[in-house]
Amino acid sequence: MKKVYTVAEMRKERRKLSDPVGFVPTMGYLHDGHLELVRRARVENKDVVVSIFVNPTQFGPEEDFDAYPRDMERDLFLLKEVKADVVFIPGTEEMYPPLSSTWVEVENVTERLEGAARPGHFRGVATIVAKLFNIVQPARAYFGAKDAQQLVVIKKMVSDLNMDLEIVTVPTVREYDGLALSSRNVYLDLDERESAVVLYKALDMAKKLHEMGERSADVVRRQMTELIQNEPRAIIEYISIADASTLEELENIDRPALASLAVKIGQTRLIDSMPLGT
Ligand code: PAF
Repeated sequence: MKKVYTVAEMRKERRKLSDPVGFVPTMGYLHDGHLELVRRARVENKDVVVSIFVNPTQFGPEEDFDAYPRDMERDLFLLKEVKADVVFIPGTEEMYPPLSSTWVEVENVTERLEGAARPGHFRGVATIVAKLFNIVQPARAYFGAKDAQQLVVIKKMVSDLNMDLEIVTVPTVREYDGLALSSRNVYLDLDERESAVVLYKALDMAKKLHEMGERSADVVRRQMTELIQNEPRAIIEYISIADASTLEELENIDRPALASLAVKIGQTRLIDSMPLGT
């Protein structure tokens, strides 16, 4: 497994790789959800590139950029185990040289949910992902379904900017009790960890209500809200039942939809999502 640190080195390694190349962009502190993306990329491509870069531009000024967990040694060990071919580990100045002044803004789908709660977040995500795609030139890039809005935004960017690659959605990997794997789960203490399962319970209830024929989005949102409000450590930021492609809130669940939510457990903000009717 080759480790590269600069854009120039990455381009040089890229020329040696066999097509198709699969790409997994990450912010490191890898868990089994990330490794599942690499395993899938491994099966579907000749060579696999993984990037590790904690992207400062997708964090707000009050967010956890400095505290974001990092463990490069462990990450590299895990990536070797799942047989990544190249790991791209650029520094901040490499990705954002001082005179850099170009941004990728995806409109509309970024205005709601995470976009409303975290102004500028998706501008940072779209910009870094576009830059990484330009550098790595993959045939396919792999993203976890948990960050559902991120996937909608990236697919829109790829389509609008005529980027020549396929975006592959990989199902969310969950703990034994349903909690979605996330690098931020490390912030939870034992009691909070127990409480955090409430996100999955609410989404699972939404799925079951939908399967039983409930089509009123309001009824589903209300039931999810009640369930979460019964968990004293949980504070709801949003609960959404939206059109799966536009992310516009629905009245009737009469098309493929996405249940998603952001909930604070203590100081830790967690998100999760579940497709309905797809
Ligand atoms: O999902 C993430 O880990 C990040 O948002 C990504 C796609 C690696 C961009 O920094």
